[in-house]
Amino acid sequence: MLEIQNLNVYYAKAHVLRGVNLRVESGEFVSVIGPNGAGKTTLFRAISRLKDYSGDMFFDGSRLPQEPAQIVRLGLIQCPEGRHLFPYLSVLDNLTLGAFRHDQRDGSVKQELEKVYTMFPILRQRAYQMARTLSGGEQQMVTIGRALMSKPKLLLLDEPTIGLAPIVRKLIVDALKQISDSGVAILLSEQNVPFALEHAQRVYLLETGSLVKTGTAEEFRRDEYVRKSYLGAA
Ligand SMILES: Nc1ncnc2c1ncn2[C@@H]1O[C@H](COP(=O)(O)OP(=O)(O)O)[C@@H](O)[C@H]1O
Ligand SMILES: [Mg+2]
Repeated sequence: MLEIQNLNVYYAKAHVLRGVNLRVESGEFVSVIGPNGAGKTTLFRAISRLKDYSGDMFFDGSRLPQEPAQIVRLGLIQCPEGRHLFPYLSVLDNLTLGAFRHDQRDGSVKQELEKVYTMFPILRQRAYQMARTLSGGEQQMVTIGRALMSKPKLLLLDEPTIGLAPIVRKLIVDALKQISDSGVAILLSEQNVPFALEHAQRVYLLETGSLVKTGTAEEFRRDEYVRKSYLGAA
């Protein structure tokens, strides 16, 4: 579904992504793990064309367009790091904005909203509150809900559990599993490796701009280097 070939990204002279090759199959759940500064956000921003790059990217067999808005129209939707909600709009308005490219009259937007409320019941109770009054975990749920409102084919999630309490993290990660089970492909970036491995089918390890390892979640759990460096094994 998504195929990235020889991706290189620079900030001025700093070469921050180096020859990255990555693919996500239709309906697949793929995690990118790597420490702070490895280049995860840069990778995601490049995919959505919020950052220039060299290399080739294909989606559903066609070259990705140059315009972020066109990429969104293809169903390649990003949940950005740091959430980027509209703090002074209600939860409902933030969610509905996710569906801006869909016909608001045909009832399908309402249906999507019901799905989001079923996944995150607390958001129904919070519907008319300003987004800024929500807890961090609830705001993250709105961010994911807003992305779902646009009916993604592939959902990019950049560190959705960062800074959240373990119990909320678990809730978010289990919601991702539900989304994945509904047929949406997921590309997740995470520093928290146990979470990244929990529901993923395949995993990439990114270190200082290079993909240094790839395999199934099971292979990662058994891998000596991953265990020592990322899973706290003695
Ligand atoms: N806007 C920017 N200008 C210059 N350097 C940047 C910018 N954004 C990120 N970087 C650098 O690029 C590298 C990768 O950053 P980033 O993609 O944010 O990593 P991650 O998301 O894995 O923490 C880091 O060395 C970071 O300092
Ligand atoms: Mg980041």
